[in-house]
Formats: sequence, C-alpha cells, structure tokens
Amino acid sequence: MRAYFDFAATSPMDDEVLAAYTQELRAVGNPSSLHAEGQSARMRMESARARIAAAVGAEPAEVVLTSGGTEADNLALKGIHAARNAEGAHRPRLLVSTIEHHAILDPAEHLESHGVDVVWLPVDRQGRVDLEALRAAIEDDPESVSLVSVMLANNEIGTVQPLEEIVALAHPHGIPVHTDAVQALGQIPLDFTALGVDAMSLSAHKVAGPVGVGALVLSRGLAPVPLLHGGGQERSVRSGTLDVAGATAFATAAELAAAHLTDGTSARTAALRDRLAEGIRGQIPDAILTGAGLEGDGDHPREDGRPGRLPANLHVVFPGCEGDSLLFLLDAAGFATSTGSACQAGVSRPSHVLMACGFDEDQARSTQRFSLGPDTTREQVDALLRALPEVVERSRRAGMVSASPRWAHSGGAR
Ligand SMILES: Cc1ncc(COP(=O)(O)O)c(C=O)c1O
Repeated sequence: MRAYFDFAATSPMDDEVLAAYTQELRAVGNPSSLHAEGQSARMRMESARARIAAAVGAEPAEVVLTSGGTEADNLALKGIHAARNAEGAHRPRLLVSTIEHHAILDPAEHLESHGVDVVWLPVDRQGRVDLEALRAAIEDDPESVSLVSVMLANNEIGTVQPLEEIVALAHPHGIPVHTDAVQALGQIPLDFTALGVDAMSLSAHKVAGPVGVGALVLSRGLAPVPLLHGGGQERSVRSGTLDVAGATAFATAAELAAAHLTDGTSARTAALRDRLAEGIRGQIPDAILTGAGLEGDGDHPREDGRPGRLPANLHVVFPGCEGDSLLFLLDAAGFATSTGSACQAGVSRPSHVLMACGFDEDQARSTQRFSLGPDTTREQVDALLRALPEVVERSRRAGMVSASPRWAHSGGAR
C-alpha cells in the first residue's frame, strides 16, 4: 500500500477536471483569431476566467492567467516594483516576509542584488508576521515603499497570515499589497475583494488541477511591467497564446476547491490532520508541532474566527532525526511525505522558515511535512502512525549525517 501525504507539493488531478481538460484539448481555435473557431475559443476562455474569478471573489477582468504560481509571484514582485518606480518615481524599498516560498524569496533576492532595498519582515515563533515591524518599516518612509508582499498561508508550517491587518497598515499610505495564496486556495475561504489585497497568486496543481496553470489576480488599478512581451494578451501584462484548456481545467478545479470548504471535505481533512497530530504527540513526546494553531497556541481558529492555520497541513520537528532520512525511511515504508524545505548537493539545508521562527539549525533540518487531501483516509493516517515510531527510531540511530550519495539531489518539491 502507498499513502500520499504530499498534497502541498502537488495533488492528483480530479476526474472531473481531467474530463474538462481533455475535452477542451481536442478543440481548435486561438481565442485571438477572428473566425468562428477563434471566437468560440474566446467565449470558452472568458467563461473559464469568470468561473475562476467567482471561485476566489474577484471580477473576471482581474484574473490574469499565468503558467503557475511561480510566474504569478515573479510578475507581482518584479512587475509591480518596476511599475511603481516608473516615470521618475523613486520607491527603492520592497517589504517581504522572511518565510516566503522560493517563488517570492528568490526574485526578491534577485532584485536585492540589483540594488533594491528589500526589507525582510520578521515573524514570531508560529510564523506570523510581526505587524509592529511592518508598521515601523512603513512609517520609516512610506513614500519609499514600492510594495508589500506577504504570503497568505505558508507552504511548510501552514500558518495563515493576518492579511487584512497588513492591508490596513499599507493602504493608508497608498502602498499596494501582494499575497501568495497558492497554498490557501481550497483550504481556507478566499475572497480577493474582501481580503483587500491588490494582487494575489494562485496555482492550479495544488487543487487537483494541471501543472503549468495559475493566475495573478490583479486589481484593475495596477499595471505591472510585464515579464513577457509579445502579443499583448491578458491586458498586455502577460503575452502568450491563451491556454483555453488549462484555464477550463483550472476553473473546474477552483470550483471544486471552493466547494470543499462547505461540503465537509475540508472539515474531514482537518479532523484527520488532528488525529495525526494527536497520535504523534502521544507516541513521540519530544516531537514539536510547528506553526500556528497547534501546541496549545490557542489560535485554532483565531480569536476573530478566521483560521490560524491550514486544515490539511501538519509540520513536525523530530529532534535528532535528519529530515531527509525520515523522508526516505517513510518512502520505503510506503508513505510519500516531504521535509518541506530544500536540499542542495546532498546536504539538506535547514528550513529558512523554521530558522525565521527562531528554531535552531538542527531543528530546522529535522522536519517532516504531512499534507493531506480530499482522498486521505483514516486508514492511511493510522498506518502512518503505526509506522512512525520505528522510522523515527531508525532515523535517530542514523543521526544527523545526510551526505549520502542517495540523497545527492538539489531542489525538492515544496
Ligand atoms: C506558497 C507557494 N507559492 C508558489 C508556489 C509555486 O507554484 P507553481 O508550482 O505553480 O509554480 C508553490 C508551490 O510549491 C507554493 O507552495
């Protein structure tokens, strides 16, 4: 038996999504063409756009289709920063949280190496952005800030950020806010308009849609400098022939994801996650459950009723275990999991997210992420709980050395 506990890396495509995708792949017509086939494709494209928009509380005109979350993040960060510095404006500061996914972290570091003053916003032990630090950074010189970018939910530890408060600090100074909502889609209620952000990144393959499809939801007042120049599609923000099949599949997946929040799927997943958390606490007493909403944090849900963490995420530090060794031992036992962070040249890098939360380097290399999905069963959770104590014991005996050639790869799905 194999059990998949890595939905946050990518999720199996839903049958309904696959049917919509393949049916559309058979159709011919470039939505920019003027003949009947083209116009029909245009209508199907706009219908998909409207469905995606409705699933995330946005207007159809606000949805810019991209090749996924990474492109949406790059377009938001580089494009909005450049646009806010056009026509003589001087806004050299970019405010970014320290726990972003690499799709934000790396473009931010790229901009930093080209002279942009990136202000890295600290987080607390649960991974929540320090709002006072944000306030101070803005009030230091509001005119000099191009953009604030803080992810809605963290891909490693599952913590949900107080985006409404972040928007309330930035907007009075006219500073736009971007959020990476790739992990939030389908897990917590997502409403672009209610959230108040100016730009929001999405990706289809995290919610049973295809890889290579995503969107940057963009309020109409914002015109980022494009990364891709060409045929002028997507408000001239993102050139390239429109992917009607991808958009249609994404629309179906986004609707299913939104439905999961109210049809009991999400609650069932959360209950299984809690069962797994309880089991780990009971069997491995020194394991540390990270992020908000667990470990007596009292924030599940938050006091204001909004969720403090993702319902399908469990992220654990197993002291004395090397994350990769746990991963490979679990894999051999039939369980697909993730360390949640990257490894390079055979040596696992400590998680930048855990380091930012104040964990030490050993702890930040001793992590395992279990991400559940609509297909996860109680039997799978119980099987994992039965396997874990021995796996942890064996990993502890192996110690913290991870330079085996077996592990010599770089990157890692996050
Ligand atoms: C938070 C977050 N942002 C961005 C991405 C990148 O999305 P994509 O794989 O669609 O490029 C991921 C995927 O791992 C993610 O978890």
